[in-house]
Amino acid sequence: MNMEEIIRIKRDGGVLTPSELKYFVHGYVAGEIPDYQASALLMAIYFQKLTGTETAELTGLMRYSGDTVDLSEIPGTKVDKHSTGGVGDKTTLIVAPIAAALGVPVAKMSGRGLGFTGGTIDKLEAIPGFKIILSPEEFIEQVKSIGVAVIGQSGNLTPADKKIYALRDVTATIENKSLIAASIMSKKLAAGNDAIVLDVKCGKGAFMKTLEDARALSELMVEIGDYAGKKTVAVISDMNRPLGYAVGNSLEVREAIEVLKGKGPDDIRELSIKLAGIMAYLGGKSASEEEGCSLAEYALNSGQALDKFREFIKAQGGNQDVCDDFELLPLGDKKAEVYAREKGYVCEIDGERIGFASQHTGAGRKTKEDSVDLGAGILLNKKVGDAVFKGDIIATAFGNDVNKVKSAGNEVLKAYSICDKKPEKTELIKEII
Ligand code: URA
Repeated sequence: MNMEEIIRIKRDGGVLTPSELKYFVHGYVAGEIPDYQASALLMAIYFQKLTGTETAELTGLMRYSGDTVDLSEIPGTKVDKHSTGGVGDKTTLIVAPIAAALGVPVAKMSGRGLGFTGGTIDKLEAIPGFKIILSPEEFIEQVKSIGVAVIGQSGNLTPADKKIYALRDVTATIENKSLIAASIMSKKLAAGNDAIVLDVKCGKGAFMKTLEDARALSELMVEIGDYAGKKTVAVISDMNRPLGYAVGNSLEVREAIEVLKGKGPDDIRELSIKLAGIMAYLGGKSASEEEGCSLAEYALNSGQALDKFREFIKAQGGNQDVCDDFELLPLGDKKAEVYAREKGYVCEIDGERIGFASQHTGAGRKTKEDSVDLGAGILLNKKVGDAVFKGDIIATAFGNDVNKVKSAGNEVLKAYSICDKKPEKTELIKEII
């Protein structure tokens, strides 16, 4: 067997056998296959696609390419939640404490932001003192004692995905459903949970631009999860607009706390209740998804979820007083206000552009090695459907570098479309698979 032959088979539309896929994954992780051959294969896959069986095989090879997590010591059905990457998506900060308050153990590994999308770990680090690294024993102990722990990916988990994802990122081969499904599901399966809720983003601010593509990706991931014996549900949610008003790490923590206080923007609240409700159902805490959602709503409104969030922050060394005093969270002292150039209604906010604008403030990374400004980001003052007058402040960019903040402000302006007529309201949650 050799790489040239494997590339040729896929280039010509053939199907790779399990041993050919194994040869590639093992050889690439071991450093025996050079990047140029791996890139050629990924591009062949990008154009010729993988069958369902090839995708399942690739997922399994990546899942077991390094360490896997054993959560069996934690009693109960452990339920994970994963978002395919969005703009302003702070739902993990809300959903994890709701689920834990309902008795669903949440032992979660999260990622950092890259490109125009944010990451939970950066958001948590905006909380002074919060530790995103725990030893495996501390991680398990924390879930056993308070029901929730969220940490950065540690150990040698799915090294094949790490290497292949990094290569896809620089060879324009990210946007392939099989590769995305194998990448996400290999990590989720290696993380050792019993059930998985996937939040599949769909629209301009997401990898999947159309509902059709989001549906196909969801079906693929649900099939992979079910095949591996994990109850898996996918929620397809709209990413044609940023979620909530805040984009950027500390700004998003503030907004998440508002939602945990029973307030906050309707869209974040709606999606969080849906995701947490499904987690409650999969975790055996409700007889149906609907009942799970009612329980989730109660946990929010009664303050139980906020109490759990405080407990969670304290357990991981953070200052829980941020829940009562937002001044304790970092916020850049430079700001650029963005003004409406005309009168009308906001009919669209390009999520991807806002994500890039937030990156320009310093809140996001261009490469994995970049550091982030935790107090930087974009606050949207006007959302889709709002009426605006010429000169109204539609958004504000924050940060610590005046030039970055100004350039972000210019980008934000381009993200807004103003029309004469109020746009029709669109559904946030498109489908559940
Ligand atoms: N997120 C991942 O983890 N992998 C992908 O391929 C795309 C999004």
